Amino acid sequence: MRVRNKPWAPKLIAAHPELITEDPTQLKGQWQSRFEKTQPLQIEVGSGKGQFIIEMAKRHPEINYVAIEIQTSVIAVILKKLVAEPLPNLQLAHADGQAVTAFFEPHEVDRLYLNFSDPWPKSRHEKRRLTYKTFLQAYQEVLKPNGQIEFKTDNRGLFEFSLTSMNNYGLHFEQVWLDLHAVVTPEENVETEYEQKFSAKGPIYKIIATFPAAEK
Ligand SMILES: C[S@@+](CC[C@H](N)C(=O)[O-])C[C@H]1O[C@@H](n2cnc3c(N)ncnc32)[C@H](O)[C@@H]1O
Repeated sequence: MRVRNKPWAPKLIAAHPELITEDPTQLKGQWQSRFEKTQPLQIEVGSGKGQFIIEMAKRHPEINYVAIEIQTSVIAVILKKLVAEPLPNLQLAHADGQAVTAFFEPHEVDRLYLNFSDPWPKSRHEKRRLTYKTFLQAYQEVLKPNGQIEFKTDNRGLFEFSLTSMNNYGLHFEQVWLDLHAVVTPEENVETEYEQKFSAKGPIYKIIATFPAAEK
């Protein structure tokens, strides 16, 4: 996601330590202390401007959410929305999702979302794709046994890569959609910014997959 540099972003982030952390390692095993209620914890890696995670948090007050986004000027947009309309079940982490195992204790997370992750189309960059096996290993470690991952993309290459990568890792496919919008209603599917922008241009692919119980 390319965004214009937002000079106000670092100041806003620094002003709201109650909503956003820049060092999620400090909260490892303690995430529930950041929320009003102790309840299931779901995370999104690469939240962009937060349309998906904000709507999920509104629709599911019985779940706590953490949005992880690496870009300062992008996560600051989510923060701005949260300051204007606080949600007791959403926290932000300005950090690299690659390090999830440093941010969460094993089994601290109930579900993980990847939405329209950067496709990294060149094969020499495949290790950067958020569904590469090293990422899957990290997700498995922080998820509960048999934890689930939900993955959406408009990018056919990334979809095919992710299907193979997840299969080779031993994930069980609960559901696969080759054209999500042909079958789901807006009530059943919370759209992301990218999804809204690109669904007119082609199909949206989705996978829900369950990790095997044993750690690899
Ligand atoms: C293509 S955008 C999609 C944004 C949003 N999920 C959507 O569907 O509209 C991908 C986002 O993932 C973020 N991102 C990429 N790699 C990341 C990483 N390792 N950790 C956290 N965020 C990452 C990017 O900064 C960008 O905002």
